[in-house]
Amino acid sequence: MFELSAEGLQKVKKEMTRYETVESAIIPSLYIAQKENNGWISQDVIRTLSKVLGLPESRINEVFTFYTMFNQKSVGKYHVQVCQTLSCHVNGAQDLVNHMCKELKVKMNEVTADGKFSISRAECLGSCGTAPMMMVNDEYHENLTPESAMNLLRSLK
Ligand code: FES
Repeated sequence: MFELSAEGLQKVKKEMTRYETVESAIIPSLYIAQKENNGWISQDVIRTLSKVLGLPESRINEVFTFYTMFNQKSVGKYHVQVCQTLSCHVNGAQDLVNHMCKELKVKMNEVTADGKFSISRAECLGSCGTAPMMMVNDEYHENLTPESAMNLLRSLK
């Protein structure tokens, strides 16, 4: 059963006071909980947030399943999200994905055997002028080539 840490609970409660309606705290709360649940949202997490926020699980689920920044399956220690929208697409995002999946011997949305990496696609991450780009956990990496993307991942411990 997932429980928020004391610090996580405090953060969620603070978010609940910041907005006019508690619904507005769903996104930041999911974000806090995802960090505390090894990078993904399980139904246990939804249940816990439902209790803390005092909202039905269905309301939280609606938000959770809409945004690609929330993961519906377990992810690697380093979760790589490659933007697939227009600028990134025409500048080689698919080549990045193909190269990284091949080198890491992993399929999209799965975790490498050592638990270190997972790769998924994301919608536009707002860095279109420096396409193609990807996020590794919370960090942006831009102007990538298949080789530079893979070198970056190799440098991660
Ligand atoms: S198209 Fe990739 S960041 Fe916008």
